[in-house]
Amino acid sequence: MSGVRIAGLRKEYGSAVAVQDIDLDIAPGEFVALLGPSGCGKTTTLRCLAGLEVPTRGEISIGEKPVFSAEKSLFVPPEKRKIGMVFQSYALWPHMTVGANVGYPLKLAKVDKKTAAGQVQDLLQRVHLGDRTSQMAVALSGGQQQRVALARAMVNRPAVMLFDEPLSNLDAKLRLSMRAQIRELHDEFGTTSVYVTHDQEEAIALADRVVVMNAGLIEQLGTPTQLYTRPASAFVADFMGFQNVLPARVESVLPGELVVSLTGTPSLLRLHDDSGRWGPGDEIAIAFRSGHVRVRIGDSTSPGVLRGRVRRTSYLGSSQRVLVDVGGVAIRAQVDEGEFALFGPDDLAPGREVDLEISADTIVPLAAAGAPVAASTAPVGV
Ligand SMILES: Nc1ncnc2c1ncn2[C@@H]1O[C@H](COP(=O)(O)OP(=O)(O)OP(=O)(O)O)[C@@H](O)[C@H]1O
Ligand SMILES: [Mg+2]
Repeated sequence: MSGVRIAGLRKEYGSAVAVQDIDLDIAPGEFVALLGPSGCGKTTTLRCLAGLEVPTRGEISIGEKPVFSAEKSLFVPPEKRKIGMVFQSYALWPHMTVGANVGYPLKLAKVDKKTAAGQVQDLLQRVHLGDRTSQMAVALSGGQQQRVALARAMVNRPAVMLFDEPLSNLDAKLRLSMRAQIRELHDEFGTTSVYVTHDQEEAIALADRVVVMNAGLIEQLGTPTQLYTRPASAFVADFMGFQNVLPARVESVLPGELVVSLTGTPSLLRLHDDSGRWGPGDEIAIAFRSGHVRVRIGDSTSPGVLRGRVRRTSYLGSSQRVLVDVGGVAIRAQVDEGEFALFGPDDLAPGREVDLEISADTIVPLAAAGAPVAASTAPVGV
């Protein structure tokens, strides 16, 4: 098994900087997702790994083998990097059979016909297309074509698999089943995988570690759980689906705890923090998920409860979203199916007064949005 090492990677297109400076170590057998908004440099990073772009600066190794070094003027072409690639477009040869498409890399590698046929059939069975070998690729559905593309990319057992948004052309149900298939093949073959996506749910479901990119840099790197529960910046919190990222001010620092006020309101909140990073008067941001905000009717006065008025609700079937105005600040809350019975028909109508309870351990303190953050790129055990 081969890992991947990227050091000081930079790619410029004329005066545009697509990738600023990326350092990333990927362990052998690891599944890493590159996640970030459009234009943040995900595809460019992947294409540099593949050898489809010549980086402006930096070094890349696959396994023990350096494949690019700007300093040493080293560039190993894509076909010598032992990689397999799957893109959003299936890029099959439409008038070749399914079997010929999958077997093409083996033909190029001059593998004898009998061995090749066995390997092709093995891969097609793994992607549940074992009975389609002699059909023309053009006769398959989009999902089936993408499975052929996956089989073709993996047929000669590449050391590293590169995926660039491979599921974004498929419908939601198909995406889920293909996602599982990709991870299964990765595990069975002991491949190292780098998977580009802008879908946080896909990234955390698939990957051992997720790299969140922003403007050509790594904003945060961590396990799905770390990113999901402890984003390191407002950007990551927003990207990881925290519905509430709000400016706040530190009022006091207690052992293991901060008391903060929501900017623009007198409302106080307590949150757990033992980083020692903040002091009284600091302007910060706080992030919490709507699912962690409990909506109550009544007149509670306990600390950590915010009093507000309902602005809007929307019914989602298994839950109800509630937008609440707390002294001019909009807070997103959620009422789950099991709690529907707690409310009368008009309790959540616009204008009604409600209390919001947010438990201290679900609120994440962050540097104020826009403030620079030190990206943590140290590899963690997987
Ligand atoms: N061949 C090119 N010539 C000039 N600029 C480019 C080229 N390829 C990419 N860029 C620029 O580099 C930046 C990063 O592009 P990249 O394709 O890596 O983004 P991405 O994260 O994959 O985005 P998306 O999610 O939209 O695919 C963008 O601003 C893009 O316009
Ligand atoms: Mg892209």
